[in-house]
Amino acid sequence: MKKILAPSILSADFKVLGDQIRTTSDNGAEYLHFDVMDGMFVPSISFGMPVLQSIQGVSSQVMDVHLMVTDPIRYVEAFKEAGAEILTVHLEACEDIQAVLDKIHACGMKAGVSVKPATPVDALLPILDQAEMFLIMSVEPGFGGQAFIPESLDKIRALRALLNEKGLDTDIEVDGGIYLTNVREVLDAGANVIVAGSAVFKGNIGENVKGFMEIFKEN
Ligand code: DX5
Ligand code: ZN
Repeated sequence: MKKILAPSILSADFKVLGDQIRTTSDNGAEYLHFDVMDGMFVPSISFGMPVLQSIQGVSSQVMDVHLMVTDPIRYVEAFKEAGAEILTVHLEACEDIQAVLDKIHACGMKAGVSVKPATPVDALLPILDQAEMFLIMSVEPGFGGQAFIPESLDKIRALRALLNEKGLDTDIEVDGGIYLTNVREVLDAGANVIVAGSAVFKGNIGENVKGFMEIFKEN
């Protein structure tokens, strides 16, 4: 499967956000990851539709929006309007996950479903063929710059096995604590979309992105 880097703008310098986004795109990052936090589902508050709207057209990257919000069905249309192309919701935040996925698809977006570290991948079984991507959180959602939770590798392997059993080549995205030093094991476990915030935006952004691209070429 194609390996994709999705830089999380949560760790970007918002004084020069457009320039930094362009640098990630120019060096090969095909997605841009938006970590939307509401202060309810997760302790932090980050940003929402206006930021997404404001950077439309800066690059041609896929707008990969991660909603860490309660009852996300309320915002599906608004994020579509603001430019989201993939909209990922948390299984734990939805009363009726099927209704949310149907609404995302009805709005013409790809649907992602995310699980927190404590949620087993078996919880995804009822909707295994209903999403274009699954997001395994490898940190407790809410903050950038945390350490990768090693047990996440078993979850990635288990989910990739479940998908293979059903003949599904659905993308598996992993988010949290991923660096050049540990990304190979995340890819080997079966993930193909890598979210990285600190590893991209701290230090030389262009070189950081190129580092991921080199590793992606290896596999
Ligand atoms: C957690 C956030 C972070 C962020 C990536 O809620 O979703 O995982 O995207 O942060 P880093 O790559 O800095 O761990
Ligand atoms: Zn995220």
